[in-house]
Amino acid sequence: MNTFYVTTPIYYANSLPHLGHLYTMIVADAVARGKRQRGIETFFLTGTDEHGINIERAAQKAGRTPKEQADYVVSYFTKMTSEFGLDTAHGGYDIFMRTTEPFHYEGVSELWRRIVKAKTPKGRDAIYKGHYEGWFCAACAEYKTEDEYQKPKNEGDPPTCLIHDTPLDRVSEESYFFRLSDYDEALLSAYEKPDFVRPESRRNEVISFVRGGLQDLSVSRLKSSVSWGVPVPGDPEHTMYVWFDALTNYITAIGFGNEERQKAVGFEKFWPALHLVGKDILRFHAVYWPSFLLAAGIELPRAIVAHGMWLDPNGRKMSKTLGNVIELDALHRYFSNDTIRYFCLREMVFGQDGRFGYEGLIDRANSDLASGWGNLSSRTLTMIARYCDSRIPSGLIPEDKLLLAKRTGVDTDETTVAGFIEHARHQFVQHFDNLAFSKALEAAWSVVARVDKMITDAKPWDLAKDENQKQTLGAVLYRAAESLRWLSVMLYPVMPEASLAIWKQLGLGGSPARVDPTELKWGEQKEGAAIGEVQPVFPRLDKAKIMAEISSGASTPTEAAAAAPEPSAPVVHATQADAVGVTSFIEIDDFAKVDLRVGQVLSAERVPKADKLLLMKVDIGEEQPRQILAGIAQYYEPEKMIGRKVVIVANLKPRKLRGFESQGMVVAASYGEEGRPVIATFTEDVPNGARLK
Ligand code: MSP
Repeated sequence: MNTFYVTTPIYYANSLPHLGHLYTMIVADAVARGKRQRGIETFFLTGTDEHGINIERAAQKAGRTPKEQADYVVSYFTKMTSEFGLDTAHGGYDIFMRTTEPFHYEGVSELWRRIVKAKTPKGRDAIYKGHYEGWFCAACAEYKTEDEYQKPKNEGDPPTCLIHDTPLDRVSEESYFFRLSDYDEALLSAYEKPDFVRPESRRNEVISFVRGGLQDLSVSRLKSSVSWGVPVPGDPEHTMYVWFDALTNYITAIGFGNEERQKAVGFEKFWPALHLVGKDILRFHAVYWPSFLLAAGIELPRAIVAHGMWLDPNGRKMSKTLGNVIELDALHRYFSNDTIRYFCLREMVFGQDGRFGYEGLIDRANSDLASGWGNLSSRTLTMIARYCDSRIPSGLIPEDKLLLAKRTGVDTDETTVAGFIEHARHQFVQHFDNLAFSKALEAAWSVVARVDKMITDAKPWDLAKDENQKQTLGAVLYRAAESLRWLSVMLYPVMPEASLAIWKQLGLGGSPARVDPTELKWGEQKEGAAIGEVQPVFPRLDKAKIMAEISSGASTPTEAAAAAPEPSAPVVHATQADAVGVTSFIEIDDFAKVDLRVGQVLSAERVPKADKLLLMKVDIGEEQPRQILAGIAQYYEPEKMIGRKVVIVANLKPRKLRGFESQGMVVAASYGEEGRPVIATFTEDVPNGARLK
């Protein structure tokens, strides 16, 4: 049967959605739409991973039960998927999977029971009871080996996790083990299929990890240590290791171990899946998961494909501490879904890390979308409206007009452009199928450039002045319109809204969602068909305005925000984090990196044409006062600021905003939906320059 199954990871229900989550969903959504467009029945899964100690702890901090905690986080995820057009209602995922679903409990218990009965390739029990003692990172939900943790500075202190920089817990308890060490050969032979783990570089890493020797895996925790989990069948004193539970969602979602689900979706129908994962969780998917499946006698996934991480424009990891995270609210407020999708798929060479910044996003949107595809579409359609009475002209140039057409610079051979686009379509589809989205989009944009050139060479506006060239003019515009139709079909999985809009403006019926790009034929637009109303699909984005609003408004930091005068930025984060309880802690050394000083405002004035910004001179006990910009002008009159004591982040890299250099940041609390700032101050007298510790 012609079916396809694509999954994103299921996300931990202990923190709110961020760009990393959105990204994989966009990729999976584009893949799913691409398959559906080709007539392949597709199932697209995303969801949340809701068990484990982290969720238990987050819930405890927030005064909720673990399930309430999960529901709370899920509400943010579903808000995100709806806003970004990724949910079922918008033609996106088929299931938002939750590991707290009763059918999942049934399915994962069934998998456990099967593995318990199984023998490894070396003839031993696949699961056995043993005793585990080790350093456990709660945030990673895994035990750490010596090369995976930072040894403590002081003897007696626990080591710290290299990823989270948090102290590890010493855990020693009875545990069930999965005999992973017996699966090395079976795994290595699975990796021989070159497409099984992708990209190649990651596949090599996985192979050398397995060749390095596998240790058995602890797959349960005592209920007394981790109660929030699926009970081990036959031994309710144990709960299943959260990764065993989470990975299994990929099969329980489609009916493994549950009749009803099986009828509703169909395990045999859709399995095996293509798993899209970030490179940081590849090992779980490419080593543990296949060995569980091997043990249970279940077919291995179709492929496991690892993408890179989004970094900030300077190549740094995005983190709340650095203040360089991309805010989903800001993305949603200022950019269309298609713009975000295009950027994500165009900018990250799939498999490698990518850089994401608002400025880069605006630049790409303006150059590739507004001036590129958008402009090609509006100039073509506007000319059809003006010169052809809003009807699709004929694509043919009569014999007796060919010479004249050639003489005026028109390439009369229709196959030049048709051949070009056919070749580009072939490349597009091939790259898209290989998940090389960036290359696929380059191929599509070669068409935009080619057709733009065809129009510029043919100069329709001149042809329109000569009655003898009327048919030639029509043929040029027909070719442009036909190219737009092809582009709408090719680009539909990447930009569904814009593709449909252009499709409709061309006056076409149906939807590009249902046209198989491999079956496109040149020349199928009907002569004489009326086009729709012409409207710009990608309006130009006003970079200065958007950047100023993002920097000074309630919607938190930009890529330069580590250095931005962003009073509300840290506070908006804090508010959100509070909502789910603080879920990660920093060391005192991390805090010491931030140089907070007492300052006194010497002067304050509004910044012309920026209603949120105040420009201040602040004495922080240095020779010269600092010039600091803050996005507080809507709530604080300049006069009221003069003389006030404030808290300044003194070691932020200076940054230019609206032509003024800001040499620090004013600290403020932030509350309410618009993130109303309230400046931090002192009730006792304190000298300027005193450091906050
Ligand atoms: N719950 C597990 C997955 C279980 S799947 C059976 C988990 N959850 S997570 O909430 O931490 O989500 C991690 C996913 O987000 C990973 O795929 C990770 O790579 C991705 N990202 C997190 N930060 C990211 C970026 N900055 N950029 C791109 N993706 C990133 O792990």
